[in-house]
Amino acid sequence: MKIKDIDLGKYPVLLAPMEDVTDPAFRLMCKGFGADMVYTEFVSSDALIRSVSKTEQKLNISDEERPVAIQIYGKDTDTMVEAARIVEQARPDILDINFGCPVKRVAGKGAGAGMLQNIPKMLEITRAVADAVKIPVTVKTRLGWDAGNKIIVDLAEQLQDCGIAALTIHGRTRAQMYTGEADWTLIGEVKNNPRMHIPVIGNGDVTTPQRAKECFDRYGVDAIMIGRASFGRPWIFKEVKHYLETGEEMPPLSAEWKLNVLRREVEDSVKLLDERRGILHVRRHLAASPLFKGIPNFRDTRIAMLRAETKEELYRIFKEIEKLI
Ligand SMILES: Cc1cc2nc3c(=O)[nH]c(=O)nc-3n(C[C@H](O)[C@H](O)[C@H](O)COP(=O)(O)O)c2cc1C
Repeated sequence: MKIKDIDLGKYPVLLAPMEDVTDPAFRLMCKGFGADMVYTEFVSSDALIRSVSKTEQKLNISDEERPVAIQIYGKDTDTMVEAARIVEQARPDILDINFGCPVKRVAGKGAGAGMLQNIPKMLEITRAVADAVKIPVTVKTRLGWDAGNKIIVDLAEQLQDCGIAALTIHGRTRAQMYTGEADWTLIGEVKNNPRMHIPVIGNGDVTTPQRAKECFDRYGVDAIMIGRASFGRPWIFKEVKHYLETGEEMPPLSAEWKLNVLRREVEDSVKLLDERRGILHVRRHLAASPLFKGIPNFRDTRIAMLRAETKEELYRIFKEIEKLI
């Protein structure tokens, strides 16, 4: 599958953009396990044009993680255009526009999924951004605002007409936030619309290699995108890619190997930030890791992990866990 000139191969599996999650270290790790393209967390166009340094840092990408997309959000056309030009200077392979974030501080102000209530504005921004930069511009959005307004089939065509190079659809409405099950039927409908010619990337609740394959086979999407299932399990890309390529599950990865991956995640994060912030950043992933599922009386250990503030503390807990898995 290709997005303009970017060849993502057969059955591409992408790492979803996730705020506070898809930092350079995590992106590189997922890339190492087989993610075919990675996305930065979303970047505020308002903050970018005001040169807020914390925001500018989010544009830090490296050649090793290519192809990489930088994602921006905002509600004002001129600001989004200016931000897009700043992003282009950072030389990502793709600029992605977020029209899907459901949280109040974004959607409530009309940005992200809030734009699903103002389609003319959404299209104006998309057209203006696509015209303003030379790199491919893509969009990530949801099915619609709520159950009564699942407009994605028409919207996809309108967005395509604005000049975007690919469209990612998360199979939920804004009203659903992250609840209920992602509905892939409309994603399939968009893909099978004969008027659509740009790649369609499906997203939502892909948590197993089997489900990944089903999404390709049943809905015909050009690529799939994985978000939450990578928490504490960045090796999901390895499992999924192996299954897609061979039709077979890979031999189980040992618990020791997985724990070492998580140790590496801690080390990478500490190196990127500092010990305290690095641990704060990863411990949520650790607590969510499926590696620890099924350990009897894990609750207390999980709480301890969520409270750990130093590597020493965390690794002491890992040592205890090692005896149990
Ligand atoms: C913690 C978190 C942060 C997220 N941040 C972003 C973001 O910055 N940009 C975006 O487009 N989507 C964001 N999302 C949505 C995901 O990219 C994805 O669409 C959603 O989680 C559904 O996919 P999944 O079921 O594979 O997780 C975020 C989701 C989570 C859980």
